Amino acid sequence: MKGIFISFEGIDGAGKTTILRLLEKYLKGKNLSVVSTYEPGDTLCGKKIRDILEQEENKLYSYTELLLYLADRAEHIKKVILPALYSSKIVICDRFFDSTIAYQGYGRGIDIDKIKMFDNFVRSSLLPELTILFDIEVEIGFKRKNIKLSEEYKLFFQRVRKGFLEIAKQEPQRIKIIDANRHINDVFFEVCRLVDKIIKINK
Ligand code: TMP
Repeated sequence: MKGIFISFEGIDGAGKTTILRLLEKYLKGKNLSVVSTYEPGDTLCGKKIRDILEQEENKLYSYTELLLYLADRAEHIKKVILPALYSSKIVICDRFFDSTIAYQGYGRGIDIDKIKMFDNFVRSSLLPELTILFDIEVEIGFKRKNIKLSEEYKLFFQRVRKGFLEIAKQEPQRIKIIDANRHINDVFFEVCRLVDKIIKINK
């Protein structure tokens, strides 16, 4: 496998999807072969899974929700990520398994060892070379999305944010934290610096 796998993580409203589009353009401008993708939903089956997750939001049993994210990932790895990496592409993925640990583990309260066991089965040994964590305060993230948060939701996203930061602390080599409270240009500049470095290492 000769490609480079990069994932973007963070709570909703952190701006990662906007930066991903900019990064895709930036890398294509350097004549690099890039595939940008996302979870959940970037396969035929994944779209159906995403529909279920969105329609049933907050009504699903937490284990069912977890298994749907993992089913989406299984299909995504097999049909999108691995083929792109085997053809030496740079894959930028908007959310990957750290989201499952943060949302289903820290957010919903499912035992993290249990999540890791099932996720390892789905992922085998596939791991991003670089994960960028866009860290933002919950209130700022949701203001950007123009969404008013209930107290319950605010607490949920605060747990998720804390979860991401703890995951990052455990894997400082792979996961780089970016302060996403700043202006988009500053955030993008830092992302480019990290990505350029990983491309250089993999040359
Ligand atoms: P998006 O808004 O970034 O497209 O992500 C969709 C939602 O899915 C977001 O609220 C986070 C959630 N999610 C999980 O809860 N667990 C996961 O494993 C993944 C990939 C996403």
